[in-house]
Amino acid sequence: MARLDVTEMFQDISFPGHLHTQDSLQQAVEFNFQDTDILIASYPKSGTTWMQEIVTLVYSRGDPHLSQTVPNWTRAPWLEQYYCTAVLEASSAVPRLLTTHLPYRLLRTAIQDSKAKVIYVSRNPKDVMVSFYHFHKMANFLPDIGSFPEFLDRFLEGKLHFGSWFEHIIGWTQTAAVSNLLHVTYEEMLLDPQGAIKKISLFLQCPLAEDEINNCVKHCSFSSMKDNKMINYTLVPQEIMDHSKGSFMRKGEIGDWKNMFTEEQRRRFDSVFSSKMQQCSLQFVWEK
Ligand code: A3P
Repeated sequence: MARLDVTEMFQDISFPGHLHTQDSLQQAVEFNFQDTDILIASYPKSGTTWMQEIVTLVYSRGDPHLSQTVPNWTRAPWLEQYYCTAVLEASSAVPRLLTTHLPYRLLRTAIQDSKAKVIYVSRNPKDVMVSFYHFHKMANFLPDIGSFPEFLDRFLEGKLHFGSWFEHIIGWTQTAAVSNLLHVTYEEMLLDPQGAIKKISLFLQCPLAEDEINNCVKHCSFSSMKDNKMINYTLVPQEIMDHSKGSFMRKGEIGDWKNMFTEEQRRRFDSVFSSKMQQCSLQFVWEK
């Protein structure tokens, strides 16, 4: 394959510099997917970590040992981060579990002819934005966020790190030419965890018995994950994530946006949402 020009590909999208390098982005866009790979794709704050936990638990048939002893970034490394290659080389796990926040257009060349399984996780964008806003306060590797109204503007304009939420969801759910893609929403995982885990386990061709599903549900609940150091990011140094300013496992709810948005902000958000999503038939759960 001819070398892809990452400078050009990434000219209108930015990623936090401490984890993403020119080399790591190059490796991601030229990644050699194996047909057995499982890729979790999501925009940040959509339930990525939760899905990493669910897939780990499904393959362990509900046994929490692996998810309680190995950090999620080693179990399911981010394709575009600098340490991914080293983690994959050190592991003989099959299938390989990978994670990405890249929009589909940047992975198209690498993934389109592969039979790798993709699980796309989405969440209603108002809750994504509010969660991302709080995350910016504790994540020292993210830029200064400004006020909530300024953050909202940047989110709607697609000017935050990781790019546009609209482009991300449309790319992965409406245009991706990936043969094996399952779309799972944060809201269905919260409202019907048994059903969501069953659906995911069938997609992974790893059907589970009812008690195994119930064990998965128990160990990937918000309270279990909040207490699990392998997934709650408390192992990360304070210079990178400052847990005195907030928790990674923050609230885990549907509809928290209602505590932040003014009526005028809701109207503005809805208006941008309707115009950018007019070709998209997806339905969202905005509140419980
Ligand atoms: P909040 O900030 O709204 O609480 P990601 O992993 O994509 O960065 O997403 C993080 C968001 O998912 C956070 O949202 C976090 O609390 C929530 N989350 C993670 N695990 C969860 C679980 N088991 N149940 C509910 N929400 C969960």
